[in-house]
Amino acid sequence: MFNITIKDTYDEVSAEAFKIMKEVLSGDHTPVLGLATGSSPVGLYKEMIRDHEENGTSYKDIITFNLDEYIGLPRDHRESYWTFMHVNLFNHVDIPDENVHVPLGCGEDPEADCAAYEAELAKYTADVQVLGIGSDGHIAFNEPGCPFDSVTHIMDLTEQTRRDNARFFDNDINQVPTKAATMGLASIMRAKKIIMIATGENKADAIYGMIKGPKTVDCPASILQDHPEVYVFLDKAAASKL
Ligand code: GLP
Repeated sequence: MFNITIKDTYDEVSAEAFKIMKEVLSGDHTPVLGLATGSSPVGLYKEMIRDHEENGTSYKDIITFNLDEYIGLPRDHRESYWTFMHVNLFNHVDIPDENVHVPLGCGEDPEADCAAYEAELAKYTADVQVLGIGSDGHIAFNEPGCPFDSVTHIMDLTEQTRRDNARFFDNDINQVPTKAATMGLASIMRAKKIIMIATGENKADAIYGMIKGPKTVDCPASILQDHPEVYVFLDKAAASKL
């Protein structure tokens, strides 16, 4: 069930998304948050930092699980998702590092690390999962063709995804890792609520596929048609094909 909000600017989109996050943060129990990387949620994270600073919202008991991580990048690499989350959120709130979970991309046995991540995730239910969407319809790093019943696994990244993400790697696709560890589609669907943020024209086809297209592994985000509570925050460009 999609609840769609369309706004003019990225800042407005982020402020609207924060309203749902704030409800979760103010609920009757300390929440478990599923978090995402990419440019789309950065404005939401800024709102969360502002709320922490201005209103004293505390993260000291909050548990977080991130969606994915590149295989082969050490955690301290400038483009690892571990680094991204610390720079854009964790370093600015009072969350203890032991409460933070990000898949391990640099271990000796990535398959075993994925299984361990899924086992830890299975102990919890995320109150909300933040998502962006790839221009090919991927969520987390679940690329087209990935089965709907997938759990945390290793995924080969498509050429399109690596091209899209080259902007973070000196615009050089050869520096973009070829694989990622990612929560599966079934892992994501367990979250109670989903916040999906997408802006810009290059997301319009993926957003159309997610909401109006057939439910198919060719557009992994279309699995969200089966989720009971998906809040979608778009600008006009991302909503232009709806
Ligand atoms: C990456 C991430 C996804 C993210 C997507 C879109 O591929 N693994 O989780 O949704 O990029 O990123 P952006 O928000 O920067 O457009």
